[in-house]
Amino acid sequence: MDTGVKFLFGPWSAAHLETIEQALSRWVVAHAPAGLGEAMRYAVLDGGKRLRPLLVMAASEAVQGNPAAAVRAACAVELIHAYSLVHDDMPCMDNDVLRRGKPTVHVRFGQAQALLAGDALQALAFELLTPEGEEVPAVQQAALCRLLARAAGHEGMAGGQAIDLASIGRDLDEDELRQMHRLKTGALLQGSVMMGAACGRPDPRATPALSVYGAAIGLAFQVVDDILDVTADSCTLGKTAGKDAAHDKPTYVSVLGLERSRTYAQELLQQASGALASSGLQDTRALQALAAMVVNRDN
Ligand code: IPE
Ligand code: IPE
Ligand code: MG
Ligand code: MG
Ligand code: MG
Repeated sequence: MDTGVKFLFGPWSAAHLETIEQALSRWVVAHAPAGLGEAMRYAVLDGGKRLRPLLVMAASEAVQGNPAAAVRAACAVELIHAYSLVHDDMPCMDNDVLRRGKPTVHVRFGQAQALLAGDALQALAFELLTPEGEEVPAVQQAALCRLLARAAGHEGMAGGQAIDLASIGRDLDEDELRQMHRLKTGALLQGSVMMGAACGRPDPRATPALSVYGAAIGLAFQVVDDILDVTADSCTLGKTAGKDAAHDKPTYVSVLGLERSRTYAQELLQQASGALASSGLQDTRALQALAAMVVNRDN
Protein backbone atom coordinates (compact mmCIF):
# COMPACT_ATOMS: atom_id res chain seq x y z
CA MET A 1 0.00 0.00 0.00
CA ASP A 2 1.31 3.45 -0.88
CA THR A 3 1.66 5.62 2.19
CA GLY A 4 3.01 8.53 0.15
CA VAL A 5 6.54 8.09 1.55
CA LYS A 6 9.00 6.28 -0.70
CA PHE A 7 10.26 3.00 0.78
CA LEU A 8 13.86 1.98 0.14
CA PHE A 9 14.66 -1.54 1.29
CA GLY A 10 18.46 -1.01 1.28
CA PRO A 11 18.55 1.74 3.93
CA TRP A 12 15.72 0.07 5.86
CA SER A 13 17.59 -3.23 6.14
CA ALA A 14 21.00 -1.60 6.74
CA ALA A 15 19.66 0.32 9.73
CA HIS A 16 17.97 -2.74 11.22
CA LEU A 17 20.96 -4.99 10.57
CA GLU A 18 23.17 -2.58 12.49
CA THR A 19 20.79 -2.62 15.45
CA ILE A 20 20.62 -6.42 15.40
CA GLU A 21 24.38 -6.93 15.09
CA GLN A 22 25.05 -4.59 17.99
CA ALA A 23 22.43 -6.23 20.17
CA LEU A 24 23.67 -9.75 19.40
CA SER A 25 27.25 -8.76 20.14
CA ARG A 26 26.16 -7.20 23.45
CA TRP A 27 24.04 -10.15 24.54
CA VAL A 28 26.24 -13.06 23.45
CA VAL A 29 29.11 -12.47 25.86
CA ALA A 30 32.62 -13.88 25.58
CA HIS A 31 33.08 -14.64 29.26
CA ALA A 32 31.10 -17.89 29.54
CA PRO A 33 33.25 -20.58 31.21
CA ALA A 34 35.98 -22.67 29.61
CA GLY A 35 35.84 -21.16 26.13
CA LEU A 36 32.08 -21.64 25.72
CA GLY A 37 31.52 -17.91 25.15
CA GLU A 38 34.04 -17.88 22.33
CA ALA A 39 32.25 -20.80 20.63
CA MET A 40 28.87 -19.10 21.08
CA ARG A 41 30.08 -15.82 19.60
CA TYR A 42 31.75 -17.68 16.72
CA ALA A 43 28.42 -19.37 15.96
CA VAL A 44 26.36 -16.18 16.01
CA LEU A 45 28.47 -13.16 14.99
CA ASP A 46 30.12 -12.13 11.70
CA GLY A 47 27.86 -13.87 9.25
CA GLY A 48 24.38 -14.84 8.25
CA LYS A 49 21.77 -12.93 6.31
CA ARG A 50 19.75 -12.23 9.49
CA LEU A 51 16.58 -12.88 7.56
CA ARG A 52 14.62 -14.06 10.60
CA PRO A 53 15.44 -10.95 12.69
CA LEU A 54 14.50 -8.72 9.74
CA LEU A 55 11.15 -10.52 9.49
CA VAL A 56 10.52 -9.89 13.19
CA MET A 57 11.33 -6.19 12.80
CA ALA A 58 9.25 -5.78 9.63
CA ALA A 59 6.21 -7.54 11.12
CA SER A 60 6.49 -5.58 14.33
CA GLU A 61 6.66 -2.28 12.44
CA ALA A 62 3.67 -3.30 10.30
CA VAL A 63 1.58 -3.65 13.48
CA GLN A 64 3.20 -0.68 15.30
CA GLY A 65 4.73 -3.07 17.82
CA ASN A 66 6.82 -2.42 20.92
CA PRO A 67 10.36 -1.74 19.55
CA ALA A 68 12.13 -3.03 22.69
CA ALA A 69 10.24 -6.32 22.47
CA ALA A 70 10.95 -6.54 18.73
CA VAL A 71 14.75 -6.24 19.11
CA ARG A 72 14.73 -8.92 21.80
CA ALA A 73 12.50 -11.19 19.71
CA ALA A 74 14.68 -10.62 16.63
CA CYS A 75 17.83 -11.63 18.50
CA ALA A 76 16.13 -14.56 20.24
CA VAL A 77 15.01 -16.11 16.98
CA GLU A 78 18.47 -15.64 15.47
CA LEU A 79 20.02 -17.43 18.46
CA ILE A 80 17.68 -20.38 17.94
CA HIS A 81 18.55 -20.37 14.25
CA ALA A 82 22.30 -20.22 14.97
CA TYR A 83 22.00 -23.10 17.44
CA SER A 84 20.07 -25.14 14.85
CA LEU A 85 22.88 -24.59 12.34
CA VAL A 86 25.59 -25.62 14.81
CA HIS A 87 23.79 -28.88 15.51
CA ASP A 88 22.72 -29.39 11.85
CA ASP A 89 26.40 -29.31 10.81
CA MET A 90 27.62 -31.85 13.39
CA PRO A 91 28.85 -35.27 12.24
CA CYS A 92 25.76 -36.98 13.69
CA MET A 93 23.55 -34.82 11.44
CA ASP A 94 24.75 -33.35 8.11
CA ASN A 95 28.48 -33.58 8.85
CA ASP A 96 29.41 -30.25 7.27
CA VAL A 97 32.73 -28.44 7.56
CA LEU A 98 31.81 -25.01 6.13
CA ARG A 99 29.20 -22.53 7.41
CA ARG A 100 28.86 -18.81 6.76
CA GLY A 101 32.20 -18.98 4.95
CA LYS A 102 34.06 -20.34 8.00
CA PRO A 103 34.88 -23.78 9.42
CA THR A 104 31.85 -25.12 11.30
CA VAL A 105 31.73 -24.79 15.08
CA HIS A 106 32.55 -28.45 15.80
CA VAL A 107 35.50 -28.31 13.38
CA ARG A 108 36.86 -25.22 15.13
CA PHE A 109 36.03 -26.06 18.78
CA GLY A 110 35.27 -29.81 18.92
CA GLN A 111 31.99 -31.69 19.05
CA ALA A 112 31.31 -31.40 22.78
CA GLN A 113 31.80 -27.62 22.76
CA ALA A 114 29.59 -27.32 19.65
CA LEU A 115 26.83 -29.28 21.37
CA LEU A 116 27.10 -27.06 24.46
CA ALA A 117 27.27 -23.83 22.44
CA GLY A 118 23.99 -24.83 20.77
CA ASP A 119 22.41 -25.68 24.12
CA ALA A 120 23.53 -22.39 25.67
CA LEU A 121 22.32 -20.32 22.68
CA GLN A 122 18.90 -21.91 22.97
CA ALA A 123 18.68 -21.05 26.67
CA LEU A 124 19.93 -17.51 26.06
CA ALA A 125 17.17 -16.97 23.49
CA PHE A 126 14.51 -17.45 26.16
CA GLU A 127 16.43 -15.35 28.67
CA LEU A 128 16.38 -12.47 26.18
CA LEU A 129 12.61 -12.75 25.91
CA THR A 130 12.07 -12.46 29.66
CA PRO A 131 13.76 -9.25 30.86
CA GLU A 132 13.10 -7.81 34.28
CA GLY A 133 11.47 -4.39 34.47
CA GLU A 134 8.76 -2.67 32.45
CA GLU A 135 10.09 -2.62 28.89
CA VAL A 136 8.26 -5.80 27.81
CA PRO A 137 4.97 -6.53 29.62
CA ALA A 138 4.71 -10.01 31.15
CA VAL A 139 1.85 -11.02 28.85
CA GLN A 140 3.92 -10.10 25.81
CA GLN A 141 6.93 -12.01 27.19
CA ALA A 142 4.81 -15.13 27.62
CA ALA A 143 3.35 -14.86 24.11
CA LEU A 144 6.82 -14.47 22.58
CA CYS A 145 8.21 -17.44 24.54
CA ARG A 146 5.27 -19.62 23.49
CA LEU A 147 5.67 -18.74 19.80
CA LEU A 148 9.42 -19.35 19.84
CA ALA A 149 9.16 -22.61 21.79
CA ARG A 150 6.56 -23.97 19.37
CA ALA A 151 8.56 -22.94 16.32
CA ALA A 152 11.76 -24.51 17.67
CA GLY A 153 10.43 -27.69 19.25
CA HIS A 154 8.98 -31.02 18.21
CA GLU A 155 6.17 -29.41 16.21
CA GLY A 156 8.67 -27.15 14.50
CA MET A 157 12.37 -27.14 13.74
CA ALA A 158 13.47 -30.08 15.92
CA GLY A 159 10.60 -32.25 14.66
CA GLY A 160 11.43 -31.35 11.06
CA GLN A 161 15.09 -32.17 11.59
CA ALA A 162 14.07 -35.58 12.92
CA ILE A 163 12.01 -36.20 9.76
CA ASP A 164 14.95 -35.00 7.65
CA LEU A 165 17.33 -37.53 9.20
CA ALA A 166 14.74 -40.32 9.00
CA SER A 167 14.23 -39.57 5.28
CA ILE A 168 17.78 -40.12 4.07
CA GLY A 169 17.72 -42.54 1.16
CA ARG A 170 13.91 -42.62 1.10
CA ASP A 171 11.54 -41.45 -1.63
CA LEU A 172 9.16 -38.92 -0.09
CA ASP A 173 6.02 -37.88 -1.93
CA GLU A 174 5.29 -34.19 -2.34
CA ASP A 175 3.04 -33.98 0.73
CA GLU A 176 5.65 -35.61 2.98
CA LEU A 177 8.36 -33.36 1.61
CA ARG A 178 6.22 -30.24 2.16
CA GLN A 179 5.51 -31.29 5.73
CA MET A 180 9.22 -31.85 6.45
CA HIS A 181 10.14 -28.44 5.04
CA ARG A 182 7.29 -26.67 6.82
CA LEU A 183 8.62 -27.99 10.12
CA LYS A 184 12.38 -27.91 9.80
CA THR A 185 12.63 -24.45 8.26
CA GLY A 186 9.17 -22.97 7.71
CA ALA A 187 8.17 -22.99 11.36
CA LEU A 188 10.99 -20.67 12.49
CA LEU A 189 10.40 -18.21 9.64
CA GLN A 190 6.66 -18.18 10.25
CA GLY A 191 7.42 -17.93 13.97
CA SER A 192 9.58 -14.86 13.28
CA VAL A 193 6.66 -13.13 11.56
CA MET A 194 4.25 -14.09 14.34
CA MET A 195 6.67 -12.91 17.02
CA GLY A 196 6.86 -9.56 15.26
CA ALA A 197 3.06 -9.48 15.18
CA ALA A 198 2.98 -10.35 18.91
CA CYS A 199 4.96 -7.18 19.64
CA GLY A 200 1.77 -5.26 18.79
CA ARG A 201 -1.90 -5.57 19.75
CA PRO A 202 -3.75 -8.69 18.55
CA ASP A 203 -5.61 -7.92 15.31
CA PRO A 204 -8.25 -10.41 14.09
CA ARG A 205 -7.65 -9.54 10.45
CA ALA A 206 -3.90 -8.97 10.31
CA THR A 207 -2.76 -11.86 12.52
CA PRO A 208 -4.16 -14.71 10.36
CA ALA A 209 -3.00 -12.95 7.19
CA LEU A 210 0.54 -12.67 8.59
CA SER A 211 0.38 -16.35 9.52
CA VAL A 212 -0.41 -17.27 5.90
CA TYR A 213 2.36 -14.94 4.69
CA GLY A 214 4.83 -16.53 7.14
CA ALA A 215 3.89 -20.08 6.15
CA ALA A 216 4.31 -19.29 2.45
CA ILE A 217 7.71 -17.65 2.75
CA GLY A 218 8.84 -20.25 5.29
CA LEU A 219 8.22 -23.07 2.84
CA ALA A 220 9.58 -21.03 -0.07
CA PHE A 221 12.78 -20.46 1.88
CA GLN A 222 13.59 -24.18 2.06
CA VAL A 223 12.50 -24.80 -1.55
CA VAL A 224 15.05 -22.16 -2.58
CA ASP A 225 17.66 -23.64 -0.20
CA ASP A 226 17.22 -26.97 -2.00
CA ILE A 227 17.55 -25.23 -5.39
CA LEU A 228 20.69 -23.32 -4.37
CA ASP A 229 22.30 -26.53 -3.10
CA VAL A 230 22.25 -27.66 -6.75
CA THR A 231 22.77 -24.41 -8.66
CA ALA A 232 25.14 -22.30 -6.55
CA ASP A 233 28.79 -22.76 -5.62
CA SER A 234 30.21 -23.17 -2.12
CA CYS A 235 31.94 -19.79 -2.19
CA THR A 236 28.69 -17.92 -2.92
CA LEU A 237 26.74 -19.99 -0.40
CA GLY A 238 29.36 -19.94 2.35
CA LYS A 239 28.49 -23.60 2.90
CA THR A 240 29.20 -26.78 0.95
CA ALA A 241 27.19 -26.94 -2.27
CA GLY A 242 25.87 -30.21 -3.68
CA LYS A 243 25.60 -31.96 -0.35
CA ASP A 244 21.92 -32.93 -0.50
CA ALA A 245 22.45 -35.29 -3.45
CA ALA A 246 25.74 -36.49 -1.94
CA HIS A 247 23.91 -37.39 1.28
CA ASP A 248 20.95 -38.91 -0.59
CA LYS A 249 18.44 -36.43 0.92
CA PRO A 250 15.01 -36.00 -0.63
CA THR A 251 14.63 -32.33 -1.65
CA TYR A 252 12.32 -30.25 -3.84
CA VAL A 253 14.84 -30.62 -6.64
CA SER A 254 15.03 -34.40 -6.31
CA VAL A 255 11.23 -34.77 -6.08
CA LEU A 256 9.91 -32.04 -8.44
CA GLY A 257 12.98 -31.21 -10.56
CA LEU A 258 14.63 -27.81 -10.87
CA GLU A 259 12.13 -25.99 -13.08
CA ARG A 260 9.02 -27.06 -11.17
CA SER A 261 10.77 -26.15 -7.91
CA ARG A 262 11.49 -22.65 -9.26
CA THR A 263 7.89 -22.25 -10.38
CA TYR A 264 6.65 -23.44 -7.00
CA ALA A 265 8.82 -20.88 -5.18
CA GLN A 266 7.30 -18.12 -7.33
CA GLU A 267 3.79 -19.42 -6.58
CA LEU A 268 4.56 -19.25 -2.88
CA LEU A 269 5.74 -15.66 -3.34
CA GLN A 270 2.38 -14.85 -4.93
CA GLN A 271 0.60 -16.49 -1.98
CA ALA A 272 2.64 -14.40 0.44
CA SER A 273 1.87 -11.19 -1.48
CA GLY A 274 -1.82 -12.05 -1.58
CA ALA A 275 -1.86 -12.56 2.18
CA LEU A 276 -0.25 -9.15 2.74
CA ALA A 277 -2.78 -7.53 0.43
CA SER A 278 -5.64 -9.01 2.49
CA SER A 279 -4.10 -8.12 5.87
CA GLY A 280 -5.64 -4.69 6.17
CA LEU A 281 -2.25 -3.39 7.33
CA GLN A 282 -1.24 0.12 6.26
CA ASP A 283 2.33 -0.51 5.20
CA THR A 284 3.64 -3.98 4.32
CA ARG A 285 6.41 -2.89 1.96
CA ALA A 286 9.28 -4.24 4.10
CA LEU A 287 7.49 -7.59 4.44
CA GLN A 288 6.90 -7.64 0.68
CA ALA A 289 10.57 -6.88 -0.01
CA LEU A 290 11.67 -9.63 2.40
CA ALA A 291 9.39 -12.17 0.67
CA ALA A 292 10.97 -11.27 -2.68
CA MET A 293 14.41 -11.60 -1.10
CA VAL A 294 13.58 -15.09 0.22
CA VAL A 295 12.61 -16.31 -3.23
CA ASN A 296 15.05 -14.42 -5.46
CA ARG A 297 18.22 -14.65 -3.32
CA ASP A 298 21.44 -16.24 -4.59
CA ASN A 299 22.85 -17.34 -1.23
C1 IPE B 1 20.25 -21.89 6.36
O1 IPE B 1 19.56 -20.73 6.72
C2 IPE B 1 19.61 -23.07 6.98
C3 IPE B 1 18.26 -23.34 6.55
C4 IPE B 1 17.26 -23.22 7.36
C5 IPE B 1 18.01 -23.77 5.19
P1 IPE B 1 20.02 -19.31 6.19
O2 IPE B 1 20.24 -19.38 4.70
O3 IPE B 1 19.09 -18.27 6.68
O4 IPE B 1 21.44 -19.16 6.88
P2 IPE B 1 22.23 -17.86 7.33
O5 IPE B 1 21.65 -17.45 8.63
O6 IPE B 1 22.08 -16.80 6.28
O7 IPE B 1 23.65 -18.34 7.47
C1 IPE C 1 18.67 -27.03 7.81
O1 IPE C 1 18.37 -27.56 6.59
C2 IPE C 1 17.51 -26.70 8.61
C3 IPE C 1 17.93 -26.33 9.97
C4 IPE C 1 19.12 -25.98 10.32
C5 IPE C 1 16.92 -26.38 10.97
P1 IPE C 1 19.65 -27.87 5.72
O2 IPE C 1 20.46 -28.97 6.30
O3 IPE C 1 19.22 -28.00 4.30
O4 IPE C 1 20.46 -26.49 5.87
P2 IPE C 1 21.87 -26.20 5.24
O5 IPE C 1 21.72 -26.40 3.75
O6 IPE C 1 22.85 -27.13 5.87
O7 IPE C 1 22.11 -24.75 5.58
MG1 MG D 1 20.11 -30.54 7.58
MG1 MG E 1 22.59 -28.99 6.62
MG1 MG F 1 20.21 -27.16 2.61
